[in-house]
Amino acid sequence: MSPLIELRGATYRYPDGSHGLRDCSLALRPGSRNALLGANGAGKTTLMLHLNGLLQPESGTLQWQGQPVSYGRDGLRALRQQVGLVFQNPDRQLFSAHVEEDVSFGPLNLGLPDAEVRQRVAESLAAVGMQAHARSPVHHLSFGQKKRVCLAGVLAMRPRLLVLDEPMAGLDLPMQIDLQHLLDALAMQGVTVLVSTHDAAFAAAWADDIHVMANGRCQLSRAAQALLAQPQAWADVGQRPPEVMALHAELARQGLLPAAPVPRSIEGLLAALRARPQPVATESLIHEG
Ligand SMILES: Nc1ncnc2c1ncn2[C@@H]1O[C@H](COP(=O)(O)OP(=O)(O)OP(=O)(O)O)[C@@H](O)[C@H]1O
Ligand SMILES: [Mg+2]
Repeated sequence: MSPLIELRGATYRYPDGSHGLRDCSLALRPGSRNALLGANGAGKTTLMLHLNGLLQPESGTLQWQGQPVSYGRDGLRALRQQVGLVFQNPDRQLFSAHVEEDVSFGPLNLGLPDAEVRQRVAESLAAVGMQAHARSPVHHLSFGQKKRVCLAGVLAMRPRLLVLDEPMAGLDLPMQIDLQHLLDALAMQGVTVLVSTHDAAFAAAWADDIHVMANGRCQLSRAAQALLAQPQAWADVGQRPPEVMALHAELARQGLLPAAPVPRSIEGLLAALRARPQPVATESLIHEG
């Protein structure tokens, strides 16, 4: 299947000369859930800013459904309708005084009728659990609430690709779980999702494909299920593999679990352990005999 979006050989330097990207390539399959890992400064945010045209590569190309993106006004407008980006820091994204106003900005800008805008705003706020705050001033919200409003603003545009820069950071655990369910529901509807994170366990449990960046390049792109069986691949890109891998390897060595498949999470590993056939206790054999 050809990629929905593809960055090829992109190099980008910030105005002060520091390299954001170096010959970086990344392709996302339509409808897939993608996690982007990498150390601080690896280039995750810079890469994401390229995907909706906020930054333009010095060399290399960005293709949307096999067509090169044009960086004129119309080309960028078309790209940004399809690619919704949620920033790492919500204060960089929110600029209206009130929540509703902020979320309606994008749909109004598309020239949609008022009734449609109202419906989209209500739906998006409900999706992130912020409907009760529709009339709140943005500056009265907590950090996590601001992040949810940013996401609502992007959802209201109904993007085909949703790019989220460290969306879990600063969210409480129930909201992280809610967000994960919301991203799953969007993926089920065919939305392609890319999430940057420092949480390898989340990446392994949630993503279809995992991409790892280092030094401005995407060094590794592979199916999460395949990577779960490849500790060396994680080591090669300087990433600590999720704990479930070492636990599973030890249980497999002791003959308690089959060598494959590797469960995607600790919960999955516990379920596999519980599901294995129970050995018949020797004592009960003696009594029965
Ligand atoms: N505005 C900027 N001006 C100059 N250099 C920048 C700027 N933003 C990022 N860089 C540099 O670009 C490189 C990539 O940074 P980027 O923010 O993309 O990393 P990241 O992977 O998102 O890191 P983090 O995990 O800390 O968010 C780093 O070397 C960084 O110093
Ligand atoms: Mg970043």
